[in-house]
Amino acid sequence: MGNIALINRRNFLKGSAIIGSVVVAGGFWRAAENGVFSTGKGPAYTAWETSPNGLDGLVNAALLAANAHNAQPWLFKLGNSSIELKADTGRNLGPVDPYLREMYISLGCALENLIIAAKENGYSPIITYFPDQQDINYIAKIDLTTMKPLHMELYDAIPKRHMNRGPYDTTRDITQEIIVSLMNLNIDNSEVKLFMFDSQQDKLKIGQAMIEATQTLISDKEQIGVDPKWTRQSWQDIEKYKDGITTDAQGLPTLTRMIAKILPPLSPEQNNQFWLNTLKNKHVATAAAFGFVTVRDPQDYLQVVKAGQLWQRLHLWATTKGLGMQIMNQLSERRDREVSLNLTPVFGEKLREILGTSEWHSIIQFRMGYPTIEALPSPRRPVKDVLVSI
Ligand SMILES: Cc1cc2nc3c(=O)[nH]c(=O)nc-3n(C[C@H](O)[C@H](O)[C@H](O)COP(=O)(O)O)c2cc1C
Repeated sequence: MGNIALINRRNFLKGSAIIGSVVVAGGFWRAAENGVFSTGKGPAYTAWETSPNGLDGLVNAALLAANAHNAQPWLFKLGNSSIELKADTGRNLGPVDPYLREMYISLGCALENLIIAAKENGYSPIITYFPDQQDINYIAKIDLTTMKPLHMELYDAIPKRHMNRGPYDTTRDITQEIIVSLMNLNIDNSEVKLFMFDSQQDKLKIGQAMIEATQTLISDKEQIGVDPKWTRQSWQDIEKYKDGITTDAQGLPTLTRMIAKILPPLSPEQNNQFWLNTLKNKHVATAAAFGFVTVRDPQDYLQVVKAGQLWQRLHLWATTKGLGMQIMNQLSERRDREVSLNLTPVFGEKLREILGTSEWHSIIQFRMGYPTIEALPSPRRPVKDVLVSI
């Protein structure tokens, strides 16, 4: 993802007195309009709280999945005992995702939630990937027969999983036991592989590469220009579009978050600068470990969808253990940009160096650690908005 509209306005924060004076100064209405008092509530958030019956319930679980820029690039078609998962290519991220890999990852995330919810609800899911060779937007057909419900901890984590962009606790390491458990969530190592990095040396190298990739992304007008389209700074837009990246999702302390919502929106340039500062001082500086999800062949969309499934499983599992995670994909976004424009492969090379191999290609980079701030939900379009009949 590119800039995520970081509105960390600690600079403006001189204590809670400011909230009082802003509200008194007539900011109350702006506060109400911008949802200062409505965090996580309203029609854009109902999907997190409901679990409809039958196949609708499985779609509801699917659409709570992680997805790039919260663009929600999915459509579902219901049969009597099957669900078809399709890509909504109109929701693509343009120069941020020139090969649509982040779109296919996002669809893999949704598929994984759907599978977990199916088992919980007494359906045995049989997945046919890319059932129509002529249609690469038809990701999977999920045939459902009945079975004894299978409860999994991962199911309980579906509505609790949120990207955590706050600072992580720098006094707590990621144990080897956790790393082994994460590795074991990858059922098949032949096409998709997880690499974990927790040594100081690796963390410094990866952090530095991420900072440089972000600086380069910000200076690429076309690539960074995608962000405003998926940034929702007003409550009105959140309720209307029910997608995109919000102030609530930034992992800010409560008071800072409230002030950020009351004050007028920042310009894109200010947003970019705040993003870079936060990435350096918070995201990179407090990461307890980094992880890279890789595939053998990034051209192979089946592998990319499976990588999305693995990421979703990792994040759900982490949620059950009280761990925070955040995807930080600037390195692979820059690598793909370099290839698409035939540029010198600076970040492609850095990614290869970090992995120490040319056999695996990272399509997801993330940080993890123990959160110090609770992550909040992002908006979602409800089931009825993502069903298609043809
Ligand atoms: C392929 C992919 C790339 C992403 N890239 C980033 C990123 O670079 N930075 C970031 O903060 N979040 C990133 N995200 C997280 C999404 O923004 C997040 O999943 C979405 O906004 C929905 O929020 P939620 O996961 O909390 O429900 C990415 C997610 C996916 C699946």
